[in-house]
Amino acid sequence: MTKRRVIITIDGLAASGKSAISKLLAERLGYVHLSSGAIYRALGLLIYRSGADPADLPTVMRLLEENTIGLVEHGRSGSKVLLNGADPGEQLYEPEVSNATSISSAHPEVRAKLLPLQQECFPERGLVAEGRDMGTVVFPDADIKFFIQAAADIRAQRRLSQLYGQNSAAQDVKSLKEKIEMEINERDRRDSKRAVSPTVAAEGAIIVDNSAKTLTEVVENMYHFVSDLGSSPIGNSDKEGKKLV
Ligand code: DC
Repeated sequence: MTKRRVIITIDGLAASGKSAISKLLAERLGYVHLSSGAIYRALGLLIYRSGADPADLPTVMRLLEENTIGLVEHGRSGSKVLLNGADPGEQLYEPEVSNATSISSAHPEVRAKLLPLQQECFPERGLVAEGRDMGTVVFPDADIKFFIQAAADIRAQRRLSQLYGQNSAAQDVKSLKEKIEMEINERDRRDSKRAVSPTVAAEGAIIVDNSAKTLTEVVENMYHFVSDLGSSPIGNSDKEGKKLV
């Protein structure tokens, strides 16, 4: 009997650092990294380009029918989303696209339509699948499930550093940090309470605290955890539900 590929899921809230962690872990393992957010963002870009209302389900579904969203491997462990065969690049991360993505991804019909693309991608390769519902909905039988957490004030500080670099500790950006922290708390509440695929840790997921350690330390800990488990299925692991800090 041929062994099926290994699947590792990494879920977490906004700005938890899950994207950077997932990319590095995939590289370290020689697996492919799947960003499910990029798939939802491709739809967000289609909606934004067409001027449609992301809450208008029939129009959103028509856009999905009339266009193609695909995935290709990129480099050793990366992957890219293609929209009608072309790489949309950084356009996926424009604020207007993020907004259309956040609204359109809440439709259950949209999620159902985009499910096979995620489940069937790169069948020959080990997979590190990153998103909000990878361990709960898309890959419920994954070999190892991680859920990344980081304190809201740490996530706000990291976001601030991305915006302001070294000056981010200055007094004049203190109120901005508070504002970002409030937005993060509000987004957490919305993401984790939504009716379809809320962002919650899957049963048996390993909770990874990304507040205090460096990115390299967190990824190394996760890498060793995965290596220690070898190929034993997650269901038989005595490390289920454990906290990895
Ligand atoms: O992870 P990200 O920031 O690229 O996600 C973009 C948007 O897509 C965000 O609004 C949440 C949504 N998303 C989702 O609903 N389900 C996923 N598995 C991944 C992302």
